[in-house]
Amino acid sequence: MIPFQAWVESTGSLSYVSNPSVIFHQESIISHEKIKLASGADVPSVGLGFWKIDRAVAADVVQSSIDVGYRHFDAACDYGNEAEVGQGLAAAISSGKVRRHELWVTSKLWNTYHRGEHVRQAVKRSLADLRFDYLDLYLVHFPISLAFVPFEHRYPPGWFYDPKATSPAMKSDLVPIRETWEAMQELVREGLVREIGVSNFGTSLLRDLMSYATIPPAVLQIELHPFLTQEKLLRFCQESSIAVTGFSPLGAESYFSINMAKPDEGVITLPIVQSIAAKYKRSAAQVVLRWGVQRGTAIVPKTSNLERLRENLALFDFELTAEEMKTISGLNQNRRFNDPGDFAEAAFNTFFPIYE
Ligand SMILES: NC(=O)c1ccc[n+]([C@@H]2O[C@H](COP(=O)([O-])OP(=O)(O)OC[C@H]3O[C@@H](n4cnc5c(N)ncnc54)[C@H](OP(=O)(O)O)[C@@H]3O)[C@@H](O)[C@H]2O)c1
Repeated sequence: MIPFQAWVESTGSLSYVSNPSVIFHQESIISHEKIKLASGADVPSVGLGFWKIDRAVAADVVQSSIDVGYRHFDAACDYGNEAEVGQGLAAAISSGKVRRHELWVTSKLWNTYHRGEHVRQAVKRSLADLRFDYLDLYLVHFPISLAFVPFEHRYPPGWFYDPKATSPAMKSDLVPIRETWEAMQELVREGLVREIGVSNFGTSLLRDLMSYATIPPAVLQIELHPFLTQEKLLRFCQESSIAVTGFSPLGAESYFSINMAKPDEGVITLPIVQSIAAKYKRSAAQVVLRWGVQRGTAIVPKTSNLERLRENLALFDFELTAEEMKTISGLNQNRRFNDPGDFAEAAFNTFFPIYE
């Protein structure tokens, strides 16, 4: 095992860590193939994200990803493809390629289901679609509560309260996060989910949540890439034994096609990233993803392309130097591509900031 200080020096970006006892990635220090949750559960540090994976190909993508070695899957009600993801997972399990307990499957509670009485219904629907009797991790997708849309009325409900209205918009419903979290805790007690966590939360909301949680959040999922490094939030999570998963780990790549990133905002096209990639004979995407796992977070890159599935998982036979880690972290611009304060107004006619 590498001594704590050596690890900090070798990763560079974690040099802010002051208390070795809060590190829950110890046994993965060398390879970073897994992260450990406070409960002791191991999670593969690279998972496959399902946002914007077409329903028509989702089941096949799941099967191909299992063939190339993925065991961690990041799904959500809102992605609209959980039934197809479930179909692919069920086929892989029934063909004997993999067993349920070897998988780590995450889903997320949608914004319209924050009321205590809807949380169980929401997880039951995700479980039915995924064809499982338990989830490994269930996250509150956003600290945004919207008016309930009955399951039989529209599923997944999306952001608009009534998409057919003359001027469709989001409809807020002010539900205390405590009410939602207490219902999430019940899911653990009932055995429907093994771990619970949150997504798109900051330190203030986490502190408040931890003031009453009897089951603290195991995981925080947030946007993380070289243009949004969020060191203070990572440090806070480390000191609070909350593991972190980074979404959109490739930065702007996910956002070009939906006009949420400008053409010149790419991370993987940056000359410095490309030159590090050339040194290791790796792709620029692999360098950025390696930076993500090497700083101790899990990542959930999305692709439906077989070559990229392999590429995005092949991160464990090279290591960036402390200097390279620092250089990549130094690209930070606090650029958040996935910001409800912008997209809710642009796409859903509703001003809905959450970070300000
Ligand atoms: N909790 C939340 O609020 C939240 C928000 C956003 C995302 N997420 C989760 O995080 C996952 C990942 O985030 P994301 O999908 O936004 O972004 P991402 O994984 O960083 O980027 C996906 C984009 O990059 C392309 N890509 C993938 N691998 C590549 C490679 N090796 N080289 C070049 N391009 C590559 C993909 O295209 P192809 O598919 O064509 O390969 C796609 O356009 C999501 O799928 C979802 O599960 C969660």
